[in-house]
Amino acid sequence: MKIALGSDHTGFSARRKVRQMLRRLDVGYVDFGCASEDAADYPEMAYPVARAVSKGDCDQGILICGTGIGMGIAANKVRGVRAAVCHDTFTVEMSRRHNHANILCLGARVLDDDQIVELVHVWLEAEPEGGKHQRRVDEIMELEQKEP
Ligand code: RB5
Repeated sequence: MKIALGSDHTGFSARRKVRQMLRRLDVGYVDFGCASEDAADYPEMAYPVARAVSKGDCDQGILICGTGIGMGIAANKVRGVRAAVCHDTFTVEMSRRHNHANILCLGARVLDDDQIVELVHVWLEAEPEGGKHQRRVDEIMELEQKEP
């Protein structure tokens, strides 16, 4: 299991805590920044994380910005990505079980660092349910073929 990790400045400290947690759990990761708490534009981290997941270099991604929304919008531009903006344990779990999300987007101005770490825990443990949910996910992915 390898996680692609990224945040803008708002998620800088939360990302550090997530890295610590992943190391503790012995989960591999690639960190795509940002490099400091200086203001950074979230698409610059969303894109390499989304590409890493899309190409299969990483299995899943975690992106953190102020709300998670900008990261989600940017990451979902990349083929094969299903990025979900989540704010609590229920939505995180459902994003994996029902939507087979492959990137989790969290808001560091919505959640504190400990809540973000907790949600990443939930994310790592949840598994896609398949079945009727796979059919619906397939329908989503077919939409990519309809777009030029
Ligand atoms: C940065 O101020 C903020 O706009 C960004 O972190 C994010 O919330 C965008 O969606």
